[in-house]
Amino acid sequence: MKLHASITAVQGYVPDYILSNFELEKMVETNDEWIQSRTGIKERRILKGEGLGSSFMAAEAVKNLLKKKSISPLEIDLVICATVTPDMIFPATANIICDKTGMKNAWGFDLEAACSGFLFALVTASQFIETGKHKKVLVIGVDKMSSIIDYTDRSTCVIFGDGCGIVLLEPSEDGYGIMDSILKSDGVGRHYLHQKGGGSCFPPTHETIDKKLHYVFQDGQPVFKAAVKGMADVSAELMEKNNLKGNDVAWLVPHQANKRIIDACAHRMGVGTEKIMMNIEKYGNTTAATIPLCLWDYEKQLKKGDNLILSSFGGGYTWGAVWVKWGY
Ligand code: UT7
Repeated sequence: MKLHASITAVQGYVPDYILSNFELEKMVETNDEWIQSRTGIKERRILKGEGLGSSFMAAEAVKNLLKKKSISPLEIDLVICATVTPDMIFPATANIICDKTGMKNAWGFDLEAACSGFLFALVTASQFIETGKHKKVLVIGVDKMSSIIDYTDRSTCVIFGDGCGIVLLEPSEDGYGIMDSILKSDGVGRHYLHQKGGGSCFPPTHETIDKKLHYVFQDGQPVFKAAVKGMADVSAELMEKNNLKGNDVAWLVPHQANKRIIDACAHRMGVGTEKIMMNIEKYGNTTAATIPLCLWDYEKQLKKGDNLILSSFGGGYTWGAVWVKWGY
């Protein structure tokens, strides 16, 4: 029987510090009512502490997952880290995470697909399992968005938060795991959502800093429109391709960018609101971490054989949907 890459463990890490809507009211011209009604967010987590970056959160999550599963770090073959906020431009954050957690036999790399980073990494990782070449692969979605957010820009600072979610992939011969996926990208989206400074086009200078090019820029409305259409279309396409109806889906696991986008996507898929994983109210948009953080929060409610549709839309543009048959 065909080997599938099955998710056999989930873990998350969110920093302790809570940045509430009420605290943001004191920082920018905004209010709790606007933020909640337009996005669904009540609070988000922020990683404090000098020199702590994405690898700190990921290493905490990895250590707890390995402990929970009684797995030695030496058993991990491969680590793929999805992030837009690596510790440094290079080396890859995956390498740093491996070093911090003792995963000495693993090779690893970072993958950047913004809010779709976790799904792109999950599908990439699944190929290494399906060939039979690797037995234990960690997929990490982590972002310290607070490191690239302008806390005087109300259009972005109310949305994003910090966090990490990870899954372990192992081979399954029983038909559980990643069943199918559709992933897409279109570079036209770069105009509406980007961090322009710090790369090879605009390396950091006093001028790039003065122009705030090292912060996230988002033109919210075009992204919103593209997200509603892109996420709903690709999820519906994946379901049709696999003859899945709304009733066959146990859970929709959507990227947590905006509650209104999520509701529109669920409606289009014919999936009831009670089947939507949602934690945007407590974490905001943690970019690559949202989907695995949802799996972590809802892990106890999942049953073996449940059909999950993981779905995302984000910077790039990048978007996609993944059908997972839950394996435990
Ligand atoms: O995860 C990656 C992909 N990203 C997304 O999927 C995000 C997609 N976009 C969105 O979720 C929404 O566009 C936002 C939440 C970013 C913005 O919501 P919106 O309903 O599109 O608001 P808007 O940008 O059209 O702004 C409406 C009004 C404006 O005022 P006027 O011009 O109508 O007077 C804004 O200036 O709301 C104002 N506004 C705010 N007011 C209070 C914008 N930000 C805020 C704020 N507090 N934080």
